[in-house]
Amino acid sequence: MATRLIVAIDGPAGAGKSTTARMLAAALGYALLDTGAIYRVMALRARERGIAWDDGPGVAALADGLNISFKLEGSVNRVFTDGHDLGTSIRTPEISDGASRVSALPEVRAALLDLQRRIGAAGGVVVEGRDIGTVVFPHAEAKFFLTASADERARRRVAELRAAGRPAELDTTRAELMARDERDSTRAAAPLRKADDALEIDSSALNPAEVVARMAAVVAERTAERTR
Ligand code: DC
Repeated sequence: MATRLIVAIDGPAGAGKSTTARMLAAALGYALLDTGAIYRVMALRARERGIAWDDGPGVAALADGLNISFKLEGSVNRVFTDGHDLGTSIRTPEISDGASRVSALPEVRAALLDLQRRIGAAGGVVVEGRDIGTVVFPHAEAKFFLTASADERARRRVAELRAAGRPAELDTTRAELMARDERDSTRAAAPLRKADDALEIDSSALNPAEVVARMAAVVAERTAERTR
């Protein structure tokens, strides 16, 4: 059987992680694990149950019995809890903010670590997030740190929101992204940071196919090293 690696893709919001992770997973025949979606589900659950986003133990307790699954359908990675499709409810700007807030709580990160490791352990998976190459899968065989300029990331996020039928302004969206990056990068628990052995790719002037081609070449190289 072919060697199946763990591929980690980290980077700030709007750098193109989701699109490229999805395309790379499809090209490799790998599964896709969107860890940001897990933090988004936690923020949504907390909101629904009246638990404050800064209540560490309260939000962490929501991870108990969390039954989350994903289904890649064309260009959409559907997210389910207990078999119920969450649709775009976890993709609103409000839940983006909530996900960033709950993800800063050490209790919440600890509660979700095993879950993420269990889902990815068998390999043959592309995992995207903020701390995948540094904390969740420090031994991942291929690691990428995807970046893009703040202006480009904001433009992409606006296009994404508008395509989903949500009105979005460039200035507001840019400010929200910057605030989220600042919180995600400066928190004490598993901050967003490039792993020393990750390959940094600036996607500002690259299209997704170009980014994926670079990633696929590295994965092919690492796979060959392991099959030798
Ligand atoms: O990738 P995303 O925009 O869906 O992530 C939402 C938030 O979740 C992000 O602002 C920070 C947090 N997150 C995290 O802390 N660690 C991860 N591995 C993935 C996401």
